[in-house]
Amino acid sequence: MPMRTPSLIASPAFQALQQHHAEAKNWQVRDLFAQDPARFTKLSTEGAGLFFDYSKNIVNDQTMDLLHALARETRVEAQRDAMFAGEQINRTEHRAVLHTALRRPRSDKLALDGHDIIPDIHAVLDRMAAFSERVRSGTWRGYDGREITDIVNIGIGGSYLGPKMTCQALRSFGHPRLVMHFVSNVDGHDLDALLPRIDPATTLFIIASKTFGTSETMTNARSARAWLLRSTNASQLPKHFVAVSTQLDLVTEFGIAAENMFPFWDWVGGRYSVWSAIGLALVMYIGMDRFREFLAGAHAMDQHFQHTPLEKNLPVILALIGIWNRNFIGSTSISIAPYHQDLRLFPGYLQQLEMESNGKRIKVDGSKVEVATCPVIWGDVGTNGQHAYFQLLHQGTDVAVVDFIAALQPSHTLESHQLLLLANCFAQSEAFMRGRNADEVRADLQGQGLPPEEVEKLIPHRSFPGNRPSNTILMDALTPGTLGALIALYEHKVFVQGVIWGINSFDQWGVELGKLLAKNIAQELAEQARPAQHDSSTNGLIARAREKM
Ligand code: F6P
Repeated sequence: MPMRTPSLIASPAFQALQQHHAEAKNWQVRDLFAQDPARFTKLSTEGAGLFFDYSKNIVNDQTMDLLHALARETRVEAQRDAMFAGEQINRTEHRAVLHTALRRPRSDKLALDGHDIIPDIHAVLDRMAAFSERVRSGTWRGYDGREITDIVNIGIGGSYLGPKMTCQALRSFGHPRLVMHFVSNVDGHDLDALLPRIDPATTLFIIASKTFGTSETMTNARSARAWLLRSTNASQLPKHFVAVSTQLDLVTEFGIAAENMFPFWDWVGGRYSVWSAIGLALVMYIGMDRFREFLAGAHAMDQHFQHTPLEKNLPVILALIGIWNRNFIGSTSISIAPYHQDLRLFPGYLQQLEMESNGKRIKVDGSKVEVATCPVIWGDVGTNGQHAYFQLLHQGTDVAVVDFIAALQPSHTLESHQLLLLANCFAQSEAFMRGRNADEVRADLQGQGLPPEEVEKLIPHRSFPGNRPSNTILMDALTPGTLGALIALYEHKVFVQGVIWGINSFDQWGVELGKLLAKNIAQELAEQARPAQHDSSTNGLIARAREKM
């Protein structure tokens, strides 16, 4: 039985924050800016190539002091050090959590159970480098002697979101010949839509699955293999199929030889695996030198997280601001708003990272959490969101936090776009914070010459409450290094929040029940099993599907 986790709500810092909130809830952030010209300088920090402005949150110096005290009381630093050292902090699965080791330099050492894992990590990276170079240079050829043109990553969850999001984000560094595809959905429409567009002789499939047992992935992998075998014979399969997994036996059983498998380890969680061989698609697309820059960017953020005082520490502050907004201000969601088209998949990536990690209601010691944990994470590229759901963020009844993310320099040469893009990004965060009060609306409408009764009628509709919290994260340009740092920033944010809430951020038992039930229902639908006694809804749906399928 794990040691009892100390009560969060009984901790002195949490109680002090509660008292502090009684005062803070009456603040208007626009007034705080007016009172303190140094607010932006004080409430912003930078590290690992990222600049972070959190001054538009409903906080002051005292709020931050209390939040940092909360981090200290909940032993964030000691737990952080335990993670980096390879202690078994994933207690429900008895595993270390060492995705950070994947980005450590070759010269480092890290003993896990008495064995230095850094040479193992770099041996796999070297194999990935050699293999991807053969594909990129065209020396790896398909069954009829032509170069590979299309790479299809078959995987789901962390074995899909990471490779896909990063390939999209680093599109401008991509190999000109290689077209990347990602198939995840067990819905056959996913693979079926792709197959007519690719040539089996010039396609390479990466079957990416930590467990090599995920039914969606294995179903797609089997269909892809059958499709290939309609054009060539089994002896040609090694030219077209490679695997990334921790399960050599299952990979071999599927028919992929050990030399075509790139391993990783059980101490890498699925949603933290893009740094491992799961990143193979990205390595093929951008090349190993760029991938190493990606790892180095994340490593720089690791170093910042480990060695920067809490008061200037980006992931710690992002996490603490999140705790404040969730547990005191009462926000229920965070909208991720990248102002960079190539980061359009980043909100979806963070959805898994944050919600699968911290969507928990039980603490490490088995007791119930005492406060709300992970908010809903969602979003889309900023300017598109502005013309869709930002209305609700400005004037709706819920308070959602917005994380604005922008790169100052574009990777295109089109004139005037970048200026407008950044103007929109900064204007939105200003509008969320300032709002627009009745006097401002009145002056504006009077200026337009509207009759006084019309002005008064419109004021409630055209006023904005403001005081809506937001964060802004800036990078000079979106590069492999800054992308690595950005992902690592959110990984560590999740870690710090998990520690404060007292939960294990590294298991995901919640997804297991659905998997188990689906297995049984699949058999029932196939009429290989007698219908089980479900509820009348599930029984009815199964019966209706059987009739029509
Ligand atoms: O079902 C959730 C999950 O276990 C994720 O955590 C994981 O990223 C995904 O499934 C895919 O798992 P695998 O890589 O083992 O196929």
